[in-house]
Amino acid sequence: MSSIPYLKEQNGKKVLMVNDEPFIMLAGEVHNSNSSSVEYMEGVWEKADALGMNCLLLPVTWELTEPEEGVFDFSLVDGLIAQARARGKRLAFLWFGAWKNAQCYYAPAWVKKDMERFRRAEVEKGERFTRIESFHGMSYTTLSYLCDATREADARAFAELMRHIRAVDAAENTVITVQVENETGLMGAAREHSDEADARFAGAVPQEFADYLRAHMEMLSEDIAAAVASGAAQGSWEEVFGSAAEELFSAYHVAGYVGAVAAAGKEVYPLPMSANCWLNQGGEAGTYPSGGPVARVMGVWRYAAPAIDVLAPDIYVQNFTEICEEYAKCGNPLYIPETATHGHCGPREVYTVGRHHAMCYSPFGFEDMGGEFTASMGFLFGMDTSDPLLAMLQDVEEYRWYTDTLRSMMPLLTERYGTKKLQAVIAERPDDDTMVFGTYGFKALMSGPMIQRNDGVCLVLQETEDTFYVVANGCMLVPFSADQEKPYLDILAFEDGRFENGEWKRQRRLNGDEAAIMRYGEPVLLRIQLFAYC
Ligand code: DGJ
Repeated sequence: MSSIPYLKEQNGKKVLMVNDEPFIMLAGEVHNSNSSSVEYMEGVWEKADALGMNCLLLPVTWELTEPEEGVFDFSLVDGLIAQARARGKRLAFLWFGAWKNAQCYYAPAWVKKDMERFRRAEVEKGERFTRIESFHGMSYTTLSYLCDATREADARAFAELMRHIRAVDAAENTVITVQVENETGLMGAAREHSDEADARFAGAVPQEFADYLRAHMEMLSEDIAAAVASGAAQGSWEEVFGSAAEELFSAYHVAGYVGAVAAAGKEVYPLPMSANCWLNQGGEAGTYPSGGPVARVMGVWRYAAPAIDVLAPDIYVQNFTEICEEYAKCGNPLYIPETATHGHCGPREVYTVGRHHAMCYSPFGFEDMGGEFTASMGFLFGMDTSDPLLAMLQDVEEYRWYTDTLRSMMPLLTERYGTKKLQAVIAERPDDDTMVFGTYGFKALMSGPMIQRNDGVCLVLQETEDTFYVVANGCMLVPFSADQEKPYLDILAFEDGRFENGEWKRQRRLNGDEAAIMRYGEPVLLRIQLFAYC
């Protein structure tokens, strides 16, 4: 009997194990409504095949799972699992419960209608509904993170889902991770303002929680850490956390809610579980969902939601590499459930695996890749810049090549997760173009007259001390000796090729002009053996 997918600690990194083998989710997340129809999904699976993906992230919604209280329907879940198996793919289900993009879109009608039992958040005192000026004047309502009845009902439904997945899938491990809720938090204010929320906010901060944060300042942003450091040792939220009090209050309660839902599911079937995040982009809490798992409150989520294994950023912003760094820290593996499908998408897949030893990379709405770039996608992806890659969609053939190549190298890659034997650089970080592996190194130049593209990426994997595999595109590769005693370098063997069933298959032996100038305008996989001397 196969073991349940789990996270294994390896050299300080967490690696996802599926059937006891390390697995990288080279995945895609479908548009929100597509997985509500097995029939509609046929074409979507085809697209996933065309992109070489090994896993799909699919919403499973509370409204369709429990249309009447206590009456469950898992026919859709069964249909999606059957389709995944027929296509040889894994699944990550996304539980759209009380939260979806900081709202309650996917709560069943019986929850939405019963506002006494399932209380709404009061962004403004006494109001269940508000308009948020800073957010395009949108009308806004969501369920309260303080409502026990909602949390209990949500947790019950989620546990039923996990029970069903265990019953139909534990022998096969088609479903390998589950996301609990979607982009949680409160818009429009840093915290709720009901009488109950006010009373709790004026009450004492749980001492163990305050002590935990003080002992884990590295899991907080600088401003929050400063507020925590200068607050009172005990007292009300404002006394203990000062200017950070409202966001910390929301994060404590949102994480507590999501953690309770996750724990109820894990008790039945302990798959690895994640919580995804609508990122903050500079404004105050409430201009982004307050209480959601933004990196600035990572410590709160660690404390209040221990059943959540991974905090996962949805990255549509342009400072992609910085966000990766914010999330790949403090033992949190890099797991990107959503990212844009524009021209940076393929290189970023290679980069996250090579640089951050990512567990999951998953473009959102991958169905669109290669098609037309619509106005709404432009808005989502921040098209109003001088970067032409933001205004075009990722090329499908190249994405497939990247994904196929990473898949074919998976055991080699995962064996090096958590070590310096796997590194990558990307054109988006021009300041950072050098990779050193003991006595050898590589520079990957990504701009200048020799380079015709602006989406360069280079991943280098050290096979043995002097031999390397290189995935490269849009760059010029310059190997060098990093050994001061032996500063000169020679190439002993140089090939391009591919992996087939884990075996390296050489295509060409490269030398002469191809060894003198290693410049790549199309994706290549290379194997190179170096020799340093004096
Ligand atoms: C982030 C959400 O998590 C997704 O479900 C989707 O709504 C995307 N935004 C883009 O629209």
